[in-house]
Amino acid sequence: MPITWSNTNHTWNLSGGNVSYVLHVNAARQLMGVYWGKRVHDQAITFVPEDYPGFASFDLPVGWLPHEVPTLGTGWYGTPAIDVVNPQGDHVVSLQVKDSTIFSGKKTIEGLPATYVEEEDEATSFEITVEDSAIGLQGVLTYTIFEQTGALARSMRIINTGSEPLVIRGAQSASVLLWGNDYQIVHLKGSWARERSVVRKPIGEGTYSIFSQRGSSGHEENPFLALCHPSTTEHQGEVYAMNLIYSGSFYASAAVDNANNSRMSIGLNPQVFSWKLEPSASFCTPEAVLVFSDQGFNGMSAIYHKLYRTRLARGYWRDRERPILINNWEATYFDFTQEKILEIARTAHDLGIELFVMDDGWFGKRNCDNCSLGDWVVNREKLPDGLDGLSKRIHDLGMLFGLWMEPEMISPDSDLFRAHPDWCLHVKGRPSTLERSQLILDLSRAEVQDYVIEAVCRVLRESNADYLKWDMNRNMTEYFSADIPVEQQMEVQHRYILGVYRILDAVVSTFPDVLFEACSGGGGRFDGGMLYYMPQIWTSDNTDAVSRLSIQYGTSMVYPISSMGAHVSAVPNHQCERVTSLKMRGDVALSGNFGFELDLTKASADEREEIKQLVIMVKRHRHLTQQGVFSRLANPEGGKYAAWQYISQDGSEALLCTFKILSVPNMPPFRVRMTNLDDMADYESDDGTVYSGAQLMYQGISTHLAGDFSSCVMHFTRKG
Ligand code: DGJ
Repeated sequence: MPITWSNTNHTWNLSGGNVSYVLHVNAARQLMGVYWGKRVHDQAITFVPEDYPGFASFDLPVGWLPHEVPTLGTGWYGTPAIDVVNPQGDHVVSLQVKDSTIFSGKKTIEGLPATYVEEEDEATSFEITVEDSAIGLQGVLTYTIFEQTGALARSMRIINTGSEPLVIRGAQSASVLLWGNDYQIVHLKGSWARERSVVRKPIGEGTYSIFSQRGSSGHEENPFLALCHPSTTEHQGEVYAMNLIYSGSFYASAAVDNANNSRMSIGLNPQVFSWKLEPSASFCTPEAVLVFSDQGFNGMSAIYHKLYRTRLARGYWRDRERPILINNWEATYFDFTQEKILEIARTAHDLGIELFVMDDGWFGKRNCDNCSLGDWVVNREKLPDGLDGLSKRIHDLGMLFGLWMEPEMISPDSDLFRAHPDWCLHVKGRPSTLERSQLILDLSRAEVQDYVIEAVCRVLRESNADYLKWDMNRNMTEYFSADIPVEQQMEVQHRYILGVYRILDAVVSTFPDVLFEACSGGGGRFDGGMLYYMPQIWTSDNTDAVSRLSIQYGTSMVYPISSMGAHVSAVPNHQCERVTSLKMRGDVALSGNFGFELDLTKASADEREEIKQLVIMVKRHRHLTQQGVFSRLANPEGGKYAAWQYISQDGSEALLCTFKILSVPNMPPFRVRMTNLDDMADYESDDGTVYSGAQLMYQGISTHLAGDFSSCVMHFTRKG
């Protein structure tokens, strides 16, 4: 049984895969989180606070206990998991266990994206209700432990059981105490064009926080935080990781207390959140996914990848090989005609490319980025046959047709703004801050959500599109709404995200066969919330092959390769002016949902031939890159080499990708050791050389990398 109660220890043991998570209810009926780590047997963990030294000190015992849902006002002083202001005006909360239930499978979370099961025996769930009857507050904590991987999904429903409103000022989806302080912190930081590079540093003293208050998960930090032991590597050692399935502002922290224990937590950002909870109403936090691995970061990533690829992403395209696309953005920007578009599409089709994507600039009078967002009507000066005409011609070529939209935005210079000047997020009497000359629609309002649903569905219907790139190109400012009372204005950011999810739910379920790709100035909203609706996300606007090594390496810490858009673009690269070979650009983009973003009509005959061969190679290997087991082998942050590999689910094939960034003179070739092969089996590379699994893993293999910015992809077939 994956979840068991011990009458002796007063513990619940939640176990799956190689992981256990143990909760304890003490004599005062407080809920304690007493263990998270390597799988242990049902009775293995006890918790006896009397054994804990130091209770005769200035500190109240309550401050040092491993509270599962820490709250304020009774002697605990860290980041609260629930912070509620009661009708008396104070925020003292004291929670006691009321009841609990265990069931097979997993429930959905109303209005929010979450991991799911297809069969009930894939996971077991535990719901435990804690309450403060003095203020009429209940918290229903839900834990789902996935049977095979031990991934633990957590969320919390806060219910007002009293007769007067409560105000939630903070809600963390998970808050976990880890004994001791011998940890390092790992997170993914970045900016536009430099998304998700891996940061690792000692936990030190005090509180370390990462957050977004931009209204989206953001380029700067990803809603992911891990603690690991100092000796943990990609391949071995313990990692404790949290990732929030949420696309808005978040807050995550790692803190060392004065008893030298560490606490990590993740949830909504209290700086930009509050929620009025009327009597009988409830509020659900986003889901946090907790992953423990004692197989290093690759072990952690393998669990996230499997769960997110198969039980977070959904729909027709979830398990299908993704089409190779050509996108016209870097080829033409706003400057195109129908004939130019068709010329690019025809060339692409001749080279084996399967999907044409019409990016920004096809609507309103949008010839640059300062107008027309909201006016989703085709520009017939550019596309005289309309979207349906263009789509038909692309379909007639035998290609799929895709479109770009930025549905959450409104340009001040648009018919939509002229008709509804109050439909944007704004503060009355203050000028609205423009970014990229645009404002954000107030998607906390149902009528504005309805407009967006109608507009997107109309465009998809009219264009008969097979693919939609859903862009979102600015941070929130003046995040207030004309539609809700003054005292609830701090709800707007979260209400906006709930609005986005309602819209996505409606659009995606109306067009179940369409392939949706999320985007936000590249990878500014690369999170599990988006992945629930759209199985792929544009990883970064930076298409330079060398920059992409770090961006894709960091993104792969949490998110599966099948979620990352990766395109071959022109050189000199438009973002950093670097010149790399077509081979290197292709080999990097192969590790993602592969595509092109350049004017193929300008390619020479030799380049066209090379592209044709590249397309053939991608088609041959994409089942491996999109559905195989991925492992990182060498980190590009060192500035010299990068390497990673894929193994098919059945172990019969492997793909090794190695990259040289900068050459060093008088050095032997780069030797890399593969992982997860069978050391008793032999593997044959495509040139006919046979290697033992032991050699590939323990001795390593030298790959031919000549000069700066070079790459090598080797395919192996298991023999016998
Ligand atoms: C930002 C995206 O990341 C780009 O790929 C492109 O679609 C532009 N927006 C278009 O405005």
